[in-house]
Amino acid sequence: MLVRILLATLIFIGVLRPLAAEEDLRLAVPNVLEQSGFAQFVVPRFVLKTGVRITRVGEDEAAQMRFTQGGQTLFVGLGKQWSFEHEGDARAERFATWLRSDIGKRTIESFIAPDGSPFSTQVAAAVAVPVVDFDGDVAEGETLSLSMCGRCHVINEKNRMNGMGATPSFAVLRSLTDWDDRFQTFHLRNPHPSFTQIEDITDPFDPSLPPPIVPMEMTQADLDAILAYVAIIAPADLGAPLQTQ
Ligand code: HEC
Repeated sequence: MLVRILLATLIFIGVLRPLAAEEDLRLAVPNVLEQSGFAQFVVPRFVLKTGVRITRVGEDEAAQMRFTQGGQTLFVGLGKQWSFEHEGDARAERFATWLRSDIGKRTIESFIAPDGSPFSTQVAAAVAVPVVDFDGDVAEGETLSLSMCGRCHVINEKNRMNGMGATPSFAVLRSLTDWDDRFQTFHLRNPHPSFTQIEDITDPFDPSLPPPIVPMEMTQADLDAILAYVAIIAPADLGAPLQTQ
């Protein structure tokens, strides 16, 4: 009896599953995008690779996923920012992942609208970057930089002679495009973890590995002040073109 029920259940599942999976996913495409040929270009490349079948429908029709405006920008084209939304279907999620992958992005970027205008995915990253707000105390930041970091780093002309040879100056670090990320996470970057303690942020030193030098103890507010100060430092002119006159 039990075996029969089990068998019946298996057949039931076995028969219904493929039927359910067979149903095409519906992708709503706004008219301008559809008319440009964008969706006809992009969708088949995903379908070919995955076997997931997708039917394109008009922007106002019922669909499990859609290209739309507003939301997190996925790509820019035809002078507009476009995003992709779906209702949680696993295959739609797969399409979303593919669109954001290197191959998906390359596919989007290799499409050229009939008027010759390019499509780009560059803006997605730019929009996603968090805005860092340097609202710490700049004067306090300079003092802290000189007293704590100035043991090793040249901070400005006030400790020009005190920095340690191979340690990059703050002006050099400031000239790096990701300087803010580096400063916000400096306590995780060597050599700092072995001697830096930020209140409520870093773990206590390992008792079996006492700091090799006088530990540097600070708070999040101290780091905010240092960031605010570094933000106003003039970047070192590393690759300035030679003046010819
Ligand atoms: C005991 C010496 C010492 C002290 C004190 C010190 N640093 Fe450094 N710091 C270094 C050295 C050495 C490097 C270069 C590491 C390298 O190039 O691998 C460095 C690199 C950095 C970098 C770049 C890290 C990276 O991986 O890009 C930042 C940012 C930085 N320091 C910030 C600070 C700040 C902020 C302070 C003070 C709160 C400070 N440092 C205090 C020695 C020190």
